[in-house]
Amino acid sequence: MAPAALSKTSASGEPETARSPAIEIDAVGKIYESSDGAVTALGSVSIDIREGEFISLLGPSGCGKTTLLRMIADLEKPTSGSIRLHGRGLDGLGFVFQRDVLVNWRTVLDNVLLPIDFKNKKPKAYRDKAMQLLATFGLKGFENKRPWELSGGMRQRAAICRALIDDPQLLLMDEPFGALDALTRDELNVELQALWQRTRKTAVFVTHSITEAVFLSDRVVVISDKPGRIVDILEIDYPRPRSLNIREEPKFSRYSRHLREVLDRHDAARKV
Ligand SMILES: Nc1ncnc2c1ncn2[C@@H]1O[C@H](COP(=O)(O)OP(=O)(O)OP(=O)(O)O)[C@@H](O)[C@H]1O
Ligand SMILES: [Mg+2]
Repeated sequence: MAPAALSKTSASGEPETARSPAIEIDAVGKIYESSDGAVTALGSVSIDIREGEFISLLGPSGCGKTTLLRMIADLEKPTSGSIRLHGRGLDGLGFVFQRDVLVNWRTVLDNVLLPIDFKNKKPKAYRDKAMQLLATFGLKGFENKRPWELSGGMRQRAAICRALIDDPQLLLMDEPFGALDALTRDELNVELQALWQRTRKTAVFVTHSITEAVFLSDRVVVISDKPGRIVDILEIDYPRPRSLNIREEPKFSRYSRHLREVLDRHDAARKV
């Protein structure tokens, strides 16, 4: 199956042309200087991410997914090219890191309120919101626990609450469910979809899982390595809400197979 052409309407039913870009990534490259010499993490990557779009970045380990996400968040500077954020810019951005990086000496509630502290806003004004978020993500009653008292899935839920506390327009997630068991991962995929449907934030989601990418996304961007570059963009044409059962449908299998073939093709090319 060839990558689906960009259709006139998105899975959310809105005309694509009506949605302006939230992020413009233009010929972005990244070279890291290390003790062993220069490492080209990303060659040249260009893509516009639309407002309210859910996009996944899929690719092998080391292809530059985290690097790209960190550059969008201005945690890392591109060596070449440019990234433009529209709307509230960096102020409207929430980040879920590859590891949950909760602070062990703070309670779960105070971890969720951490970005508010960083921005020198008043945590008290956000307390109710934090409690609401924790309840939405099944953490009611755990607000005064320390992170080490939570399971892996609960820690990731807390990390997502923290990314959402200041109502970001743009949600960047770096393999948030990578370390979780399959059942918890399914559950969180469904919760994340529901949150996205309610709030329509622009979301960039990094994953190694083809199934997760197809289930959640409007578009799946496949990145290959050496150097990191976009090798395919697949539009996922499924209405929402999507039930986990769609994963058994032939159309879902076709999407998955296509992505698997693209990844395998580039993996094989890399090894010759
Ligand atoms: N701070 C750094 N200094 C030097 N090289 C780095 C640095 N960060 C990343 N790299 C290199 O850049 C490349 C891309 O790394 P990156 O972490 O973006 O990959 P990734 O796609 O997120 O991988 P994974 O799926 O394993 O998380 C790798 O070759 C990595 O070794
Ligand atoms: Mg990474």
